[in-house]
Amino acid sequence: MIFVTGGAGFIGANFIMNWLLQNDEHIVNIDALTYAGNLESLSSLQNDTRHIFIKGDIGDTTLITELLEKYQPRAVLNFAAESHVDRSIHGPETFIQTNVVGTFHLLESVRIYWNKLKEDSKTNFRFLHVSTDEVYGSLNKNEPAFSETHRYEPNSPYSASKAASDHLVRSYHHTYGLPVLTTNCSNNYGPYHFPEKLIPLVIVNALASKALPVYGDGQQIRDWLFVKDHCSAIRRVLEAGQLGETYNIGGWNEKTNIDIVHTVCALLDELRPRHDGKKYCEQIAFVADRPGHDQRYAIDAQKIERELGWKPAETFETGIRKTVRWYLDNQNWVANVQSGAYREWVEKNYTV
Ligand code: NAD
Ligand code: TYD
Repeated sequence: MIFVTGGAGFIGANFIMNWLLQNDEHIVNIDALTYAGNLESLSSLQNDTRHIFIKGDIGDTTLITELLEKYQPRAVLNFAAESHVDRSIHGPETFIQTNVVGTFHLLESVRIYWNKLKEDSKTNFRFLHVSTDEVYGSLNKNEPAFSETHRYEPNSPYSASKAASDHLVRSYHHTYGLPVLTTNCSNNYGPYHFPEKLIPLVIVNALASKALPVYGDGQQIRDWLFVKDHCSAIRRVLEAGQLGETYNIGGWNEKTNIDIVHTVCALLDELRPRHDGKKYCEQIAFVADRPGHDQRYAIDAQKIERELGWKPAETFETGIRKTVRWYLDNQNWVANVQSGAYREWVEKNYTV
């Protein structure tokens, strides 16, 4: 039995589905179902007793303590977070509440539970914290990619709150001996991605004949990783990671934002051409830049490859094609997100 927090979000949902394809170990999924939580993404597991969904906040120590006592997990994987940089600029408070205060409360609940475990279970227990490369700040074009020893230089309220949570996790290992692992991953893309982030937004807007907003000059660079590869990396770190260590996870796919948008447009031109015969890239609109916009993220993922033998399976070309196809084949999921119907889905289909 393992706990996953934030399992109704983009990466958590992909992780749970992938996990249950690989083995039968049960998952308790604790998610507060914020705007980003979408249980419809997990509809394929609706009658699967291996997935137990609990609506709850990682900061609710009473609930988390009860659940830990009841289910006795061997690991807690913390995906729960506020995750969108633009939202953190407009309203940073929830980021502090969930990412910092929430992670702190979760760590406390887990520490108390872990302390009471028998020696064997105590040794084998893991707290895996899912974090981001954004904690390292921004790189110039010619600087080497982020390694695990790169200084923390977060620039947005989102990345600052994630950095704070990473520090708390680290401190619980050094101070209390809690067996922790931290992963810092680059930008993910793939199925079930909420269409407020660049890639799903471009796909969805393109199909709806809307503008494709590119911030500033579109020359900012991100490293992109297909979400299933992130999931396999997390599984590998959980299985074999050294306690107290951090692992950078990346796709070796540095791309400018404008390249990403052009790639998505070209795939849509091929797979779902516009009715008027024009190209989707005609919908691109350069808009005001994001305040404090980080110029470049790049991950040096050599440590996880060298020490744990993990490498991404997808190239950007294969991953982005699968992603665009998924959105074309799952218009209903998109429609329910856009109409807000996904928030009613839980009441109709789950007892929480
Ligand atoms: P997401 O926003 O899609 O999902 C977050 C989930 O957490 C949602 O289901 C939401 O309901 C839940 N949640 C929010 N606050 C909660 C709380 N207080 N208690 C319980 N649940 C809560 O995010 P994502 O893209 O799936 O990211 C998952 C994790 O991976 C985050 O920690 C994020 O920082 C990290 N990460 C994301 C990316 C990326 O590209 N998306 C890259 C690197 C790291
Ligand atoms: P995003 O998907 O929000 O991820 P992050 O900010 O965590 O990297 O954005 C990816 C890049 O795309 C980032 O440089 C901002 C840019 N961007 C746009 O140009 N237009 C958009 O509409 C969005 C959402 C992002």
